[in-house]
Amino acid sequence: MTDTNMSSSAISTTTSPGPPPAADQSPGTTPKKTIKAWTYTKGGLPRNCLHLTTDHPYPEFPPPSQQAPGSGNESPKEPEEWLLVKVTYAALNPGEVLLMNLLPPLMSLAFSKSAGVPQVPVYDLTGTVLDSSPSSEEADSSSRASDDDEGASSSSKFKKGSKVVAFLPVGFILSSKSGALQEVISFPAKYAVLLPDKVASPSASGASSSSSSGANTTQGGIDKLAAGLFLAGCTALAQIRDAALQPGQKVLVYGASGGIGSMAVQLAREAVGPEGKVVGVCSTRNLKPVFELGCCDFVMDYINPATIFTGEVEQDTIVEGAGSNQEGRTTKETIEQALAGMYDAEEVQFDAIIDCYGSQTLYNYSAGYLKSDGVYSACGIHANGYGYAPILASGWKLMINALWPRTKWLGGTGRTWKAASMFDPGREMMEYLVGLFSEGKLRVLVDSEWAFEDVLSGYEVLLSGRARGKIVIRVGGA
Ligand SMILES: NC(=O)c1ccc[n+]([C@@H]2O[C@H](COP(=O)([O-])OP(=O)(O)OC[C@H]3O[C@@H](n4cnc5c(N)ncnc54)[C@H](OP(=O)(O)O)[C@@H]3O)[C@@H](O)[C@H]2O)c1
Repeated sequence: MTDTNMSSSAISTTTSPGPPPAADQSPGTTPKKTIKAWTYTKGGLPRNCLHLTTDHPYPEFPPPSQQAPGSGNESPKEPEEWLLVKVTYAALNPGEVLLMNLLPPLMSLAFSKSAGVPQVPVYDLTGTVLDSSPSSEEADSSSRASDDDEGASSSSKFKKGSKVVAFLPVGFILSSKSGALQEVISFPAKYAVLLPDKVASPSASGASSSSSSGANTTQGGIDKLAAGLFLAGCTALAQIRDAALQPGQKVLVYGASGGIGSMAVQLAREAVGPEGKVVGVCSTRNLKPVFELGCCDFVMDYINPATIFTGEVEQDTIVEGAGSNQEGRTTKETIEQALAGMYDAEEVQFDAIIDCYGSQTLYNYSAGYLKSDGVYSACGIHANGYGYAPILASGWKLMINALWPRTKWLGGTGRTWKAASMFDPGREMMEYLVGLFSEGKLRVLVDSEWAFEDVLSGYEVLLSGRARGKIVIRVGGA
């Protein structure tokens, strides 16, 4: 699938529960402003629980008494700044499907008050600031009034009309019932970063000079691409930082074509530099798009690991191998066997593995290709579904990997396992990624773009588990 607008699929449109419109429109009262939003009240997969609501309440700022005091450099008495944002694009992530499927039944058991309150999903968005509270003018005058206050709210840089990219943490989404799949949203300014007007042309910082999956540097393109930046990008960045990569090191990125993986290969190259080595792993159809991100020395195919993809020709992997296991290798081998065949000698093994899919098998056999002091840095363990049983099974494996002694004497792999958890990345990570993005050093691979009414089709692609990069939803357009 390419980056195109998809045709409309069947959608379910409802009005949200609540008083009938007449109650809001009695003579002399102004009709309540409403917006379109995708909401759910009961658990299920998107096609079974998400509804397009046309009369979702227009968001408001919480009263000042309920705006938590700001954090960081801000004065403790300063109310936290909130933004009212017209959403341009949103991007989908597997984690929100998990919340959709599992949380409503749990929430209704634990907190009966929240049962039936419509929840808007989705963490990632770009948009335009419509208003702020306190307004940017008030924030400016209060910062001028304070004595040499260098620490005046860092968020006062948001003005009406500012373009922003934001990541709404799960805690905010659940407590406010407010996510990115709505036309207008209000949220604390600390979750947003200003979007650049322009981004530099992508520079292939790695070994490859090929870079053909074109960057779209118009503002519409920037809004669309940046929507996919934060949840996946911050998770990739957390994984790279967990691995403590150093210039000149050799790193394997598994699941290199997904939302996280496509950014992890680029961040890995940024960390190891041109003198390092980055090897991506994905399925056959994604070899070229991953290689064209311009940061992998070569890409391996986990379906047919006997060949490596170097952009022009597929070569026999044996040319790469320096290990001693080359004899008797067949084209039927698994990716773990192929890697062990290529990298079994300690001096050629990887310094780190960044697993952006969550393969338990790749970790189990990692002693065959990961240095004994190397780090296996995972996004988690892949769950075979969104129900309780697969999630508990993957949680169990995750716990065992983290806690089981590494020593092989006790059945360990002999390799350190770390897992990223991305609940709230904070400004430093978000600003770092926007910086790379605007310098053309971090590209967002977009699987497909969908109209707001076609969100369910976008989720079908996500649920296939085969998205090539991010799935973005055009909520308002740029
Ligand atoms: N730890 C955290 O805080 C955190 C945060 C976000 C997401 N996650 C988790 O991280 C995982 C990836 O997230 P994402 O947003 O990148 O997902 P995604 O965009 O849907 O990507 C999925 C990718 O997995 C690849 N894939 C499918 N089967 C595979 C296999 N057998 N071996 C290797 N790769 C395979 C697919 O590529 P091919 O078609 O090329 O195989 C696809 O590109 C999800 O499980 C998600 O829940 C964790």
